[in-house]
Amino acid sequence: MSAIMDLLLFNIGELATLSHGDVSKPLSGTEMANREELIIESGSSMLISQGKIAKIGPEQELLEEFAPDMENGKSNLVELLNVNGAAIIPGLVDCHTHLLWSGDRSNEIRLRQKGLTYQDISNQGGGINKTVISTRKASQKELESIGHRNLLQSSNYGTTTIEAKSGYGLSVDSEIKILQATASLDGINHNVLPTWLGAHDFPKEKKPSEYMDELIHEQLPLVAEKNLAKWIDVFCEPGWFNLEQTETLVKNAKNFGFKSRLHVDEFVDSGGLSLAAELGSCSADHVGFSNSDSRDKANKSGTMQVFLPGTPYVLGKDLGEGIQECLENNWNFSLATDFNPNCQTLSLPFIASLATHRIGIDPLTALVACTRNPASTLNDELENCVGSINVGGPADFNILNAKTIDYWCQTPGVSPISKTFFSGSIVKSY
Ligand code: NIG
Ligand code: FE
Repeated sequence: MSAIMDLLLFNIGELATLSHGDVSKPLSGTEMANREELIIESGSSMLISQGKIAKIGPEQELLEEFAPDMENGKSNLVELLNVNGAAIIPGLVDCHTHLLWSGDRSNEIRLRQKGLTYQDISNQGGGINKTVISTRKASQKELESIGHRNLLQSSNYGTTTIEAKSGYGLSVDSEIKILQATASLDGINHNVLPTWLGAHDFPKEKKPSEYMDELIHEQLPLVAEKNLAKWIDVFCEPGWFNLEQTETLVKNAKNFGFKSRLHVDEFVDSGGLSLAAELGSCSADHVGFSNSDSRDKANKSGTMQVFLPGTPYVLGKDLGEGIQECLENNWNFSLATDFNPNCQTLSLPFIASLATHRIGIDPLTALVACTRNPASTLNDELENCVGSINVGGPADFNILNAKTIDYWCQTPGVSPISKTFFSGSIVKSY
């Protein structure tokens, strides 16, 4: 027997395996709400061994096979966990966060209420560059402890795989510091996957052309040499990086073997999504104002559209029609938190509540958009496919506080989760 006993979960309610077809591929349209294929009715049992899911099957069969000596809920052969009829969903996958930064920009809400736009606030010394000043002052150790705190929040809401962007350093040393702090966080309670976002804004002390040179000739080669990022990102939006600069950065990064995930069309349709599709980016995020042709083009090129409804929510804007349009046209899409100084949530259940309660999408569709679909943009960089529950896959999953899957996004502001498992170990338990 191995030193650590296997774990057998029994008395499971609905089990959202989401494992229909090729689990490394995203689902779209009505496939995302196909309950027969994606959910196992109550009455199954699941065996966890060495961080992986070893077996899923009917409860009686698994109990007889692995715990034939079971008495009063205990066995000498296997650790037993009575789930009390609760539903289980995969570990959530947050594919767009600005995980590490320091400082506070709470004053910006009153400026917005006075009518100032995101752009106005940035021009007046607020916005990204304000967070850059405080983040540059923070040591790597301080950023690491901020990261630990943020990841506890993320675990509390059931996330087990998270993408984390740099972008509040905007200088060689501080971008490297953020990425090194990010690297130290991987594997504790999440898979943490870093993205270099040196092109988040232009730092105040440099001309745009000088900063472009620094990005291409200093930051990018160093990030590559130190192996500190899996992707590059650019804030492609009028007033920040234009289409030409974005293309230059993505092409230079390709020479170092980097793929891209881009911020596009957050405030206007500037052709960002169309460019992302042409460049073969693995994801294009925000996409609130993208046009239908670009959405179609993105879908054909395999560029995932990632909607971040928390951002228009905090900015007081409409959540848009993009998600509905994707569903109607069978275009792949995902949801993510966009955790940042303006949008301070690491709760995918809350983001999915916006999508279900405000946009009208099915809770199961929202679940696929927060698990398997975003995972399909990250799995290339992981040892095992995440985002679904299947035999041989990592034991990353959540036990809910209810018997039904739909509950997962119906408790905005409160976590719907009682236990979170990451690689077979409990990382959150109430
Ligand atoms: O994705 N839009 C660019 N970046 C972030 C916000 C950054 C900030 O305001 O600090 C976003 O929303
Ligand atoms: Fe963002």
